[in-house]
Amino acid sequence: MERYSYGMVGLGVMGRNLLYNIADNGFSIAGFDLDQEKVKELEEGAASGMKVRGTDTLEDFVSALEVPRKIILMVPAGKPVDAVLGNITPLLTEGDIVIDAGNSYFEDTNRRVADLASKKLHFMGMGVSGGEKGARTGPSIMPGGDPEAFKLLKPMLEAIAAKVDNEACTAYMGKGSAGNYVKMVHNGIEYAIMQLISEAYDLLKRGAGLNNDQLYQVFKEWNSGEMNSFLIEITRDIFTQKDTFTDNYLVDQILDKAGAKGTGKWTSEQAMEIGVSIPTIDIAVTSRILSAYKEERVQASEIYSEKEITKPEDTEQFIKEVGDALFLSTLISYAQGLSLLVKASEEYSFEIPLKDVVKIWRGGCIIRSVLLEKFYSAYTQDPNLSNILLDKEISELVKSKIKALRKTAGYAVTNGISSLGIQTALGYFDAYTTKSLPVNLIQAQRDYFGAHTYQRIDREGVFHTSWQSSNN
Ligand code: 6PG
Repeated sequence: MERYSYGMVGLGVMGRNLLYNIADNGFSIAGFDLDQEKVKELEEGAASGMKVRGTDTLEDFVSALEVPRKIILMVPAGKPVDAVLGNITPLLTEGDIVIDAGNSYFEDTNRRVADLASKKLHFMGMGVSGGEKGARTGPSIMPGGDPEAFKLLKPMLEAIAAKVDNEACTAYMGKGSAGNYVKMVHNGIEYAIMQLISEAYDLLKRGAGLNNDQLYQVFKEWNSGEMNSFLIEITRDIFTQKDTFTDNYLVDQILDKAGAKGTGKWTSEQAMEIGVSIPTIDIAVTSRILSAYKEERVQASEIYSEKEITKPEDTEQFIKEVGDALFLSTLISYAQGLSLLVKASEEYSFEIPLKDVVKIWRGGCIIRSVLLEKFYSAYTQDPNLSNILLDKEISELVKSKIKALRKTAGYAVTNGISSLGIQTALGYFDAYTTKSLPVNLIQAQRDYFGAHTYQRIDREGVFHTSWQSSNN
């Protein structure tokens, strides 16, 4: 019986596309899904020359694979992963490798690694970014876990991943659940950038009065320079899409309530858990939550309807400033996400190679951008950089845009155009670059009412004072 080099469980669009990508690159692969329709579609949709087989039962699937088996799971995160593992692990043999390619929570991965290790099986968490199209044509792939198991997968992963300068957008992300963690932070940054782009859109639309055709032109221009990125590119194209029900543009017919599957929230929770400041990501998560209060927002807008927007005096100049503000606040969002990876790597002993993270984010993934090229050279020079804002070349770039960020933030505040992401990126920057923050006062207050003690600037030790009350 012919044996297949890889197996894929979960033949939804992502799983099927990734499977075809693997097959396109000359690897044989068998697929399984509980939905037999999907199994049928798999073989029907395979191009000639692909070594692809759909299997009817999990037993057939497992016995169709070469040993050690290399099985990729592309099923929804959470219970479905445990359900598949519960069914499949009794059929596997020592040394087999199961790779979870979904957006699983890293602690779930830790639990599964330990569980499968007790059965002498390898379990790996692997982030995959790029959506349906990326999965088919070349995603960014973030594998982590057992380095020996990774070695067996490396040639295939390098073949199917996106390429930038002939380099594959995949690399070993570290021990344990590092692959899932890196993907989680990728998504947190994705939330932040999407929030920032939506604010820039609002400023251009309600501030400068740009219509969709003009917005298309602005985003086209932005995408052709230093802001070139996947998210700017798709935003450009969104402004051209006409609606099928009305004569309007589709974007204007879409209800302003944002959905979320949870990876952004995990990123924020994690940052709080291990003590890392990532306010622009936090605000992006909470802004999606706030967007869901549609009925209340409508009500409140009627009560507080005094907002009057003053058009910017020089539209061209304004567009340029908004672009620079978007560029810089995006850079600051990456800085926050990457600083979370630095701390998480220490905290969980992941040993995440930051240089490789930014290298493989340059192509294939949702947050790919030319800016990552600069981060790549910064981490090449100093792989232990704790914050990208400390790099010399990046600091020059930041300095060249900071005035525009301040002006844009000021315009938004004065005109009552909500810009939580932009304000927070600027606020983070200002706090991060302040030598003496006013938290000496917070420490004094804590010690005053709760004897929480404080440290001094002029001598070592921990101090407490019996504060004088003016009532005494
Ligand atoms: C990717 C995306 C992908 C997915 C997110 C979106 O990298 O390909 O991040 O993982 O689009 O799950 O998440 P929300 O539904 O939470 O926006």
